[in-house]
Amino acid sequence: MSPKVLSPGVPRHVAIIMDGNGRWARQRGKPRLYGHRAGAESLRAVLRACRDHGVEFLTVYAFSTENWVRPRTEVSGLMSLLRTFLKKDERELHDNQVRLRVTGRIQDLPPAVRAELQRVMEATQAYTQGHLILALSYGGRSEIVDAVRAIAARVQAGELAPEKIDEAVIARHLYLPDVPDPDLMIRTSGELRLSNFLLWELSYAEFYFTETLWPDFREPDFARALAEYARRRRRYGAPS
Ligand code: FPP
Repeated sequence: MSPKVLSPGVPRHVAIIMDGNGRWARQRGKPRLYGHRAGAESLRAVLRACRDHGVEFLTVYAFSTENWVRPRTEVSGLMSLLRTFLKKDERELHDNQVRLRVTGRIQDLPPAVRAELQRVMEATQAYTQGHLILALSYGGRSEIVDAVRAIAARVQAGELAPEKIDEAVIARHLYLPDVPDPDLMIRTSGELRLSNFLLWELSYAEFYFTETLWPDFREPDFARALAEYARRRRRYGAPS
């Protein structure tokens, strides 16, 4: 039997709420997009740090289902930043054999963004060295709603008996069923909330909060989060 209390070492999957871009820009008297642009640099730095530290999966909350209500210029600015990121960083994904994936309601994204995402996802789909998962038009509750709808449709079609629905069935109907649950969730900028991020998948994750604003979060900050994670004892409900 495997031990119930594990010393975690390096997390296999890290999920990040990249928060604080707006405040970072405001502190400099700049528009919010200036902060998002600097945030994209942090994402690059953390993706490289994942490779260097042996973290296999990185999921980042890049755009939530709630973010659609932001001013139109900010939404379109974020979408064009995403396209620039895909164009500029595709080479690096190939060089490091990193597979790009999306979790969320990708159908909500503008067609040009969707097309670019599909192209890079297909071009990198064979890679297994690392996995970058962009949460886009993502909401944890929407993901569960979509899973319930898919399961209900199977029940209605007579393919699944209601009493056969268990945790494994639900997990199989989430957006990326083959991706292991995150081991560590990082949120920057001092906010202590989950904000509808990976509600199901983060059930047993360790949480790490830092006051650092996302555009200032770079490799040394990531290394600190990993060091803190390595000191934790994961109990999965077992006694201490
Ligand atoms: C939250 O900060 C951040 C976002 C809503 C967007 C995150 C996007 C990036 C880091 C851009 C890079 C991503 C890609 C995929 C290119 P906020 O704007 O809510 O900050 P605030 O709380 O200080 O206002």
